[in-house]
Amino acid sequence: MSTGLSDRLAHLTSRTCDYRGTMQTFSVIGACVYDGTGAEGQIRDVHVHNGTIVDSLPISGAALIDGRGLALSPGFIDVHTHDDISILTTPQMPFKTLQGVTTVIVGNCGSSIAPDGAKLMGPIGCSRLSEYFQRVSDNPPSTNVAALVGHGSIRAQVMGIASNREASDDELREMARLTEEAMQDGAIGISTGLAYEPGRYSPTEEIVHLARIVAEYGGIYTTHMRDEADHLVESVMESIFIGESANIRVQISHLKAIGERNFGSTTQAISAIRAAQSRGVDVMADQYPYTRGSTLLDQLASGGRLRALHPDGIHALESLLVSSAPQHSDWEGCTLRDIANSLQLSDKETVEHVLSECGRSLLVVIDQMSEQDVCDVMKEDFVMIGSDGVPAGSRPHPRLHHTFPRILGEYVRNQGVLTLPQAIHKMTGMASTRFGLKNRGFIASGMAADLVLFDPLTVIDTGTYVDPTSVPHGLHSVWVNGICVAQDGHSTGERPGQALVSQ
Ligand code: ZN
Ligand code: CU
Repeated sequence: MSTGLSDRLAHLTSRTCDYRGTMQTFSVIGACVYDGTGAEGQIRDVHVHNGTIVDSLPISGAALIDGRGLALSPGFIDVHTHDDISILTTPQMPFKTLQGVTTVIVGNCGSSIAPDGAKLMGPIGCSRLSEYFQRVSDNPPSTNVAALVGHGSIRAQVMGIASNREASDDELREMARLTEEAMQDGAIGISTGLAYEPGRYSPTEEIVHLARIVAEYGGIYTTHMRDEADHLVESVMESIFIGESANIRVQISHLKAIGERNFGSTTQAISAIRAAQSRGVDVMADQYPYTRGSTLLDQLASGGRLRALHPDGIHALESLLVSSAPQHSDWEGCTLRDIANSLQLSDKETVEHVLSECGRSLLVVIDQMSEQDVCDVMKEDFVMIGSDGVPAGSRPHPRLHHTFPRILGEYVRNQGVLTLPQAIHKMTGMASTRFGLKNRGFIASGMAADLVLFDPLTVIDTGTYVDPTSVPHGLHSVWVNGICVAQDGHSTGERPGQALVSQ
């Protein structure tokens, strides 16, 4: 750093000079820069001009931001979200920007906002993805957004949600047409939710057929697999088979092993993935850093899977915490055991009662994984980070607000599972490369100025299952396309996010 700069920095009254607003030309001075490639940090200055990272500024007198003692990294990319609707209804997206997320990928687990004939996502749907991207451009969010098309949404549009049968030739043709339309509209790939309705009724061949179309457009196949419990390894094998048959990149969503009797089976899942990679199948995965998951109770209980809720099954009622029950907000924060006790019902009656009251909209948080499995998966060099947060209800799983600071604080600093450069790579460059996001995920000249300035010594998640919506600690500033969207735990209100439409 030149003496000139040091002199000017000395005049700053605090670290947080006010660099809000539309200011797009500035330099971050003296931070330890992690460029997103996995390389060690380097103390240097980073310059931003008109929303882009540049080698040097073409003008003088730009604002200086004191980064000394802090880390500067590319903005975090949340590769697995359910923010499709929030992007439109809560465009400031504070639960994302306050944890350093600058880009979200929507349309996961088979459900996308378009096509929306079956209203899988509720009342705010779009007939096609181009309409969604238009709405995002008309009313921009604070984060960038890229979209997958959901196979479940496509199947529901063509066959309805509950058709437990193979598609006819005509139906398959129509699904193929909708898949192609979504890819032409700018989807980055297709997602499946093979544990959910209607995805679970789809034979593997149907997915292969549609995945081939996506592959022609260079898209990715992401999957919430059929079974992450007793049949984890078979499900991984199905994903690999689809990748091999359709010649498509495969991303296994939220890789994990559910249920105590399956703890440790991530080892076989990882071996299967490694074996496929070594014969040339392009398969990778993502995960969220928690031992509890969250899903629709309906999904756990339907299709003859009620046994999973029995005391000797995978989930006991005391391990199921209601996170969102729009018709019964008084239940949010209670376990199903609490509800059973207060209503004096048996386990089976309780599940039936809450499902008849809330149906598909009841979300629960479930204690279901082992810490060892979480760490074993995290260490793999093909695993990146996706929150899988669902923005609904008063007690969302804390992953919605805290996934990324938790990786940096808990798994880098406290447990040492990852090094800081590794963790940042998983959250930035690895993710942008995997999902084909151009000009994102790295600090280098010409890249979009999506940046996070944080304190590696204090960054940490603060959310608990009881109080999940608190603000993470240690994040100093977050920029999207060169504009500051969050500073010291507050949203600035700026909304510079863009729809990342795949060409
Ligand atoms: Zn999922
Ligand atoms: Cu998901």
